[in-house]
Parts: sequence; structure tokens; C-alpha cells
Amino acid sequence: MTDHFPTKSAKLPALALLVALASAGTAQAQSAVDEGRKLAFDRSKGNCLTCHVIKGGNLPGTIGPELVDIKSKYPKREDLVAILNDETLRNPLTVMPPFGRNRILTEKEIDAVVDFLQTL
Ligand code: HEC
Repeated sequence: MTDHFPTKSAKLPALALLVALASAGTAQAQSAVDEGRKLAFDRSKGNCLTCHVIKGGNLPGTIGPELVDIKSKYPKREDLVAILNDETLRNPLTVMPPFGRNRILTEKEIDAVVDFLQTL
């Protein structure tokens, strides 16, 4: 079945390569954002959707605020890193897990999630 249109399937990798070349400048940043989104939505990683409505995420909970306009609310990236590392420093009674302090996410993973948050 799949061999019926060999030319079509041969063109796809070439097209993918062209797209990759065309967007080479932003490709690295984009992959960090994609990685961050994946970590945020992964139920065994960030699991952010349990508590936050986030654009593009399924079945969100509403324990925390909806994550929108994050870049204008927190223009400084280190503020977002701090929230993810240990929100109990800002709010000792928060239910948000201290992702950095408890090593739920690595420093690198937190960086990627912050890249994603800054697109919201
Ligand atoms: C168990 C629930 C819970 C989980 C899981 C959770 N959060 Fe939160 N989050 C909260 C609550 C509640 C707040 C409100 C502030 C507070 O409690 O200090 C909050 C606040 C925030 C804020 C500040 C929002 C604002 O508008 O000021 C950001 C950013 C944030 N969370 C990001 C995340 C990200 C990213 C994840 C996943 C890696 C995550 N949270 C996972 C409960 C959670």
C-alpha cells in the first residue's frame, strides 16, 4: 500500500529539510519551547495542568491561576525560575510543588519550562 506513491513519500524528507534550514535561526529557541511545553503537560513531570489552565492543554484543573500573559506579568526570567524552584519562598502556604528544591525538574528542565511560559 505505502509503495503506491513513492515520489510523494520521497519528497517529504526534502521538504522537512528545507523547512528546517529556513527556520535555522529560531529552531533552537523553538525546540526549547516545545520541550518546555512537553514537560509542563507531562503528568509525570511538570504536571502543571493539574492546577493551571494553559493554552493547548487538555483537562486542566483550576487550583492555581490560569497561566496567561506570563511574559508581561513576569518580564524577568529569574522570577519565573524562582517560582518554579520553590514557590513556598513567595507563599509559604502554596500548594504548588517546589519543582527545583524537590528535584521534580532539573535546572535544565526548569529553563525549558520558563522558555515555554514566556510564550504564554
Ligand atoms: C498542585 C497545584 C499546582 C501545580 C501542580 C502547579 N502549580 Fe503553579 N501555582 C499553583 C498555585 C495555587 C499558584 C498561586 C500562587 C501561590 O499559591 O503562591 C500557582 C502559581 C503559579 C505561577 C504564578 C502565576 C501568576 O499569575 O502569578 C506560575 C507562573 C506557575 N504557578 C507555574 C506553574 C508551572 C509551570 C507548573 C508546572 C511545572 C505549575 N505551576 C504547577 C498551583 C500549582
